[in-house]
Amino acid sequence: MEIVVSGARPTGLIHLGNYLGAIKNFVRMQESYQCYFFVADYHSLTTHPNARGLTSHVHNLLATYLACGLDPDKSVMYIQSDLPQIPELYLLFNMFAYKGELEKVPTFKEKVRMHRTDKNAKGISAGLLTYPTLMAVDIVIHRATKVPVGKDQAPHLEMTRNFANRFNHIVGQDFFPEPKAFSFSDELIKVPSLDGTGKMSKSAVNPNSAIYVTDEDKVIRKKIMKAKTDGGPIEMKQEKPEIIENIFDLMRLVSSPDTLNHFEDAYDNCSIRYGDMKKQLAEDMIQLITPIRERIKVIGNDTDYLKKVTTQGAEKARHSANATLQEAKALLGLKYF
Ligand code: TRP
Repeated sequence: MEIVVSGARPTGLIHLGNYLGAIKNFVRMQESYQCYFFVADYHSLTTHPNARGLTSHVHNLLATYLACGLDPDKSVMYIQSDLPQIPELYLLFNMFAYKGELEKVPTFKEKVRMHRTDKNAKGISAGLLTYPTLMAVDIVIHRATKVPVGKDQAPHLEMTRNFANRFNHIVGQDFFPEPKAFSFSDELIKVPSLDGTGKMSKSAVNPNSAIYVTDEDKVIRKKIMKAKTDGGPIEMKQEKPEIIENIFDLMRLVSSPDTLNHFEDAYDNCSIRYGDMKKQLAEDMIQLITPIRERIKVIGNDTDYLKKVTTQGAEKARHSANATLQEAKALLGLKYF
């Protein structure tokens, strides 16, 4: 069975884009692949070197995965820092990860740019620079071939392939396979933000621009009703400006085809009332989110269960990770007797 690995940093807020674009696909993938889904807590340390305060975010991420349908009997769910094999292989990979190439990674350059404007910023840590090495190790430690991540992670995946090939070259053997980005469904899902700027984002400055899976009904209603619209169409079958297209895109994701058609027609014949459309969109959004949100609450409070899931997950993951690590060490000659 092909191996799938994906990690998420425990940043707290999980929005509709994360659910529709990623987690929902994970739930389908676990039927046909050996999947490893983990909480990337070490990755959080690259920008915030203190994990105190992460606890509730870690619980929330795990509870969300479980509430959305990840099944610990099918997928291996674990916390990155429960696997000592990861930092060990990371050390080895850092021996042939070069400063120059790491400095060129777009996410690193972006962080450096932000850092320059931040008065409270300390230095740029070696951990931040070597984020791609750590991520590569997360993937190759299970010898995964498929990595479900968004477009923004493409440079990291390319680095992963470079490191894997470099290792293979050093040891003269095709040990690590080349992992590729993987989106389960053919259609790439775009979940627009509510303020007319790009996609829903975890790091959005405006918290009203995204719907979170933990939002209460009245918060969802309020955010949707506040979404920007314009004065309405004035010509039959007029092309939609982006902010209006965004509302239709959201409706396409959560409402029935009949509902969508109704508002498409109303737009085309200029009778549309955006207030009515947003009201309907909010109700359909609530239908989708409410059951997930309520399950997150129940599961999130059951810390014994979360502990059990991650303890058992870590045990399985360590088994796979250790097999890879021991072989990699032997291939590098780190085995003297
Ligand atoms: N860098 C990823 C992100 O920011 C998180 C991540 C860490 C990851 N390790 C990974 C994703 C391994 C996939 C596989 O979203």
